[in-house]
Amino acid sequence: MIYIKNAQQIEKIRKSGQLASRTLDMVSEHLRPGVTTKRLDDLVHDFILKHGAIPATLGYKGSKGTIPFPASCCISINEVVVHGIPNGRVVNDGDLVKIDVTTILDGFFGDTARSFLVGQVPEVGVRLCKATEESMYLGIKEVRDGSRLGDVGHAIQTHVEAQGFSVVRYFVGHGVGIHFHEDPCVPHYGQRGRGQRIRSGMVFTVEPMINEGVFGIDILPDGWTTVTADGKLSAQFEHTLAVTGDGADILTLS
Ligand code: MF3
Ligand code: CO
Ligand code: CO
Repeated sequence: MIYIKNAQQIEKIRKSGQLASRTLDMVSEHLRPGVTTKRLDDLVHDFILKHGAIPATLGYKGSKGTIPFPASCCISINEVVVHGIPNGRVVNDGDLVKIDVTTILDGFFGDTARSFLVGQVPEVGVRLCKATEESMYLGIKEVRDGSRLGDVGHAIQTHVEAQGFSVVRYFVGHGVGIHFHEDPCVPHYGQRGRGQRIRSGMVFTVEPMINEGVFGIDILPDGWTTVTADGKLSAQFEHTLAVTGDGADILTLS
């Protein structure tokens, strides 16, 4: 079931989304060679609490049999696609670092992620990062009352595959706002004119995970850490947006 949000609910999701975005601004200033992902997570945790919100990932229960997610954000480096668990790993010069923050403010969820280039990243990583961010915005441009999720996925897929990159299939964007993960599923691949009809008042994420090599992924025994099947790089950007009559209203801007 897809929740249609009213104007007051959308403003509350925006407040939460703005905080998530400002959290990324804050943590990016501490992202440099030598810092551990645990240290970055501690900064995220304290910043979110200081602003009266809760980190949605902390204690988040995934599928049966996996441990609850033990941190306040996901930090995924290089070949780690998503759901990297902050730990003692040290950030190095040349790393492609994805940070994904989801806040709960006044009961409403905002979800956003960015990729960061630390120091001198190999040229392919720079291109991958740029193509991924561009593809997210091309997908978002397809969002309006009456268009279809296939239009969004198609725009993303076409842009990245033209550059030899691939779209992760296993994870998708999602409705968000009242719960962390709501309907609909938002694939980052697809066919124009197909898929769920998009309607005003829907709130969902567009969060393409784009791989340098094959689109396949593996999930490590911790049940969370997701890596590329070929060990090559992966990038991701994510916004939460609300659908309006004439387009997408991005709710995760600082
Ligand atoms: N923020 C992620 C998303 O975009 C979900 C992370 S769930 C976690 O949907 F448990 F891994 F943190
Ligand atoms: Co998301
Ligand atoms: Co996210």
